[in-house]
Amino acid sequence: MRAIICERIGAVDDLVVGDLPMPEPGAGEVRVRVHAASLNFPDLLMPQGKYQYSGEPPFAPGMEAAGVVEKLGDGVAGVQIGQRVAVHPWIGCFAEHVVAPVDWLFPLPDAMDFETAAAFCLTYGTIHHALKDRGRLQSGETLLVLGASGGTGLATVEAGKAWGARVIAAASSDEKLAACKARGADDLVNYAEGDELRHQIKALTDGKGADVIFDSVGGAYSHQAIRSINWGGRMLVIGFAAGDIAQLPANHILIKQIELIGVAYQGFSRRFPDRCKANIAAMMDLWSAGALRPHIGGTYDLENGIDAFRAMRDRRAVGKLVIRMD
Ligand SMILES: NC(=O)c1ccc[n+]([C@@H]2O[C@H](COP(=O)([O-])OP(=O)(O)OC[C@H]3O[C@@H](n4cnc5c(N)ncnc54)[C@H](OP(=O)(O)O)[C@@H]3O)[C@@H](O)[C@H]2O)c1
Repeated sequence: MRAIICERIGAVDDLVVGDLPMPEPGAGEVRVRVHAASLNFPDLLMPQGKYQYSGEPPFAPGMEAAGVVEKLGDGVAGVQIGQRVAVHPWIGCFAEHVVAPVDWLFPLPDAMDFETAAAFCLTYGTIHHALKDRGRLQSGETLLVLGASGGTGLATVEAGKAWGARVIAAASSDEKLAACKARGADDLVNYAEGDELRHQIKALTDGKGADVIFDSVGGAYSHQAIRSINWGGRMLVIGFAAGDIAQLPANHILIKQIELIGVAYQGFSRRFPDRCKANIAAMMDLWSAGALRPHIGGTYDLENGIDAFRAMRDRRAVGKLVIRMD
């Protein structure tokens, strides 16, 4: 089968498009004929050996995909050959076929196309776990989203609005912020401009700061963000797209009674697959009601799919990037 292949741990430019053996589903697994798969930031890190785990080369990266069930492993019940599904097996999705455990298989609404589905489950599953389970976001609270035009960022803007928050979107260019506005952001902050992020947030919140901060960027941005949080605020540690892991000051956490909250969607979905499925079903309902619409910022064929990796690496991506296999 055709696939994007990491032949050796190295750089994004070392990825190739080639052939891998057809994977066979084991017990409790299904094989899916992939129609589309979307990029997540760890897909960049894994081939560079910078993620928490990696495949053994040669392997296909790709955490989430959508397609049609084509083969069942032993012991699989309640799944039909031909069923339209999304899966997030965390690896192997940038290929014409992928094997996934049934714990991470999500039936699709009839109206959801494969590109949307490929960009949905991992991303919105993360957001549900972050904002609701971990962040306890309430209607009327102020939510600050860093990296707000990225894949998880734009989805967080949408979900925050759907759940009644006032959303402040922070990103590095006016073009990226326009995408956030189009997804419903109430206020926009360009953090590449001179005025420090914390001053801009304070000005927008009568000096109080944000109640909940979604931080998928890290580094210096985290330091500024924690200085722009409200008393009793919750800061969600999502990721470190900027590369640096911030060492945040404990005195700020004490003085404002801040909660610094880790979010590990993969660990959550491994430990609590039923809760993960319930969260994604809730997000599918919001999609069916028209409240969520993943922004597909670029679509690539498998044969030129490595360009999607380069776009994300070079900070050019807006929303989700999708690679089509058919
Ligand atoms: N904890 C979890 O369970 C979980 C789940 C999913 C993803 N994540 C993490 O969340 C982060 C974002 O993932 P994503 O898929 O949303 O990525 P993405 O689409 O590439 O978005 C990342 C955003 O970070 C900003 N950024 C700032 N400095 C950057 C740099 N040096 N290089 C690249 N981007 C930079 C960019 O916005 P600006 O240009 O506007 O700054 C970009 O839009 C990653 O660290 C990922 O590992 C964590």
